[in-house]
Amino acid sequence: MDGKSTSSLFRYPTSFCVYALLTLMVLLILILNIAQIKNHNASIDESNQNWRIYPLPKLNSREKQQMQPKRDLWTERLVQCGYQNHSFTPEERSEGTFLMKMIEWPKPPNSAVPFQKSSNPAYSPFVILNSAKTFYVGDQFQVMLQMYDFDGHPKRYGGDYLQARIHTPALKAGSAGTVIDNQNGFYYINFNLSWPGKVEVSVLLVHPSEGIQVLKRLREERPERVYFKSTFKSGAVSETTVCNLCLSQSQPFCNFTDVRTGEPWFCYKPKELPCSARINHIMAGYEQNLLEGEEGHYFQSQVNVKKPILPSGLAHVTVKPSPHAGKDLRECVPGKSLLSPAGFYYQDKWMSTSCNIRRFDTPVVITDCLRGKNVYILGDSTIRQWFEYLTEFVSGLRKFDLGNLRKAGPHLALDIDNKIKMEYYAHGTPIRILPVSNQDLPFIANKLDEIKGGKNTVIAFTIWCHFNTFPVEPYIRRLQNIRRSILRLLERSPDTLVVIKTANVQALPRDVSLYNSDWYSYQLDLVMRKMFEGINVAFVDAWEMTIAHYLPHELHPKSIIIKNEIEVFLSYVCPL
Ligand SMILES: *[C@@H]1O[C@H](CO)[C@@H](O)[C@H](O)[C@H]1NC(C)=O
Ligand SMILES: *[C@@H]1O[C@H](CO)[C@@H](O)[C@H](O)[C@H]1NC(C)=O
Ligand SMILES: *[C@@H]1O[C@H](CO)[C@@H](O)[C@H](O)[C@H]1NC(C)=O
Repeated sequence: MDGKSTSSLFRYPTSFCVYALLTLMVLLILILNIAQIKNHNASIDESNQNWRIYPLPKLNSREKQQMQPKRDLWTERLVQCGYQNHSFTPEERSEGTFLMKMIEWPKPPNSAVPFQKSSNPAYSPFVILNSAKTFYVGDQFQVMLQMYDFDGHPKRYGGDYLQARIHTPALKAGSAGTVIDNQNGFYYINFNLSWPGKVEVSVLLVHPSEGIQVLKRLREERPERVYFKSTFKSGAVSETTVCNLCLSQSQPFCNFTDVRTGEPWFCYKPKELPCSARINHIMAGYEQNLLEGEEGHYFQSQVNVKKPILPSGLAHVTVKPSPHAGKDLRECVPGKSLLSPAGFYYQDKWMSTSCNIRRFDTPVVITDCLRGKNVYILGDSTIRQWFEYLTEFVSGLRKFDLGNLRKAGPHLALDIDNKIKMEYYAHGTPIRILPVSNQDLPFIANKLDEIKGGKNTVIAFTIWCHFNTFPVEPYIRRLQNIRRSILRLLERSPDTLVVIKTANVQALPRDVSLYNSDWYSYQLDLVMRKMFEGINVAFVDAWEMTIAHYLPHELHPKSIIIKNEIEVFLSYVCPL
């Protein structure tokens, strides 16, 4: 209200009363509406508790109480597989129950949905809400889509898994969106605008909700669909048997449970040799013929797996520079919670929304950063890519040939002059890997226990992909064990830097989904983010960094993406 209208009010007392009355009514209506909107939001929020991509729900004391389980079903399942019941603390028990609840995914109303009634991305266009509006950098905007089936009828339930990003190809700019499932066939996707220009929207249906049900069934019923083996050797005799995390105990078996973490692992007993003759661990194979009845229809690459959803109307918005642009970012320090979105690419460089990412464009800058450091890279092949990138790019950091297979490790690289040591270890079983000696496959938790730590120690790890074929419970337990070790490490050496790389998305040609779907990874990733919340570790959000990028999804992202991951990593090692 400006000064003029106020003074005119006082000049005309009668119209003032009318005006006041009107204002009062308008206010009342507004208040009522706001109250309604608030309620509406609250109910959406509650029903979508497990749905919000980021930020993850924080556990308050009320929720904690509600989460108090009658029985720890998740530990019971583990105990059946050889985990020791007494090894779980009460906190770990209720945390696991909470996490299982957190990642619950809605079911279609009935289990046998005919294919014609399943989600059809080709009939389900998205619309940009308020697309004609002028948007500024820093604004948020929303995309809506309603899912239809193959008969052209709208769907009445949710549970489809979508991924979305905004991008400007000419600027090599991109950022991931946050999907909200309204669980009635409608989906909303939020994007934060971080650069000016013509910003396009891309949405993928990763799996229809009916396909997710199949993935869930396989995860529960067929955890052995990837199987492993070990060779036992003594002198000239050698035998090979099947191994897994949980083995049917129908025949004699060997117990290779790790004594320190209590994490089980079993192999069938060789006929001649003793269990102690085991020398290695090997990925043995993938079981085939996993799908039953109609299930195959839900995994058709050109139809309903990672299938683009097309726009109805405009597929872009125009974004103007913000008058209040130029946020001052802090230096990167561990212990901060992840923001949503975590960042965006601009000119193919990842910009974090939480801190200043340094550029490490030349080998010299990396050497300067790592001088005097002891670097441990632990996990799977997606973080082994960091080791490979660094040793290829920084010529002074020489890979020392330990005689191990490139894809198995362990690996060591040294820069004697600059006192840099970098080691890579693949994480312990389960892991799909070429033959690797038992001694060369440490559990991350045990490795951490063996590291003294200190201001010159840097540890980066990732773990997710090789748990994709298992129920979530063993993954929760693995992370709890890793977290125990991190906390011990940070107690004895608080200056140690621990960096966690999240999962990343990948290509899903037919069948890869059944063993390694992004949906499996996504569920584990949610658990990982929650597990390490509030402790003094840093994250590299490879999940968003691979969704946001213009290159096609791949399990092993191309080197431009790895370069960006490493720049985030090194920004924590050597902040500006
Ligand atoms: C496991 O331990 C919990 C808590 O101590 C106990 O309630 C439960 O009965 C135990 N289960 C088994 C199978 O021993
Ligand atoms: C395997 O060995 C561990 C100790 O090493 C033991 O606690 C556990 O009960 C054993 N499991 C089975 C199934 O024999
Ligand atoms: C994204 O936009 C929303 C709404 O404006 C805002 O609350 C949130 O903080 C933004 N996220 C980041 C990381 O800036």
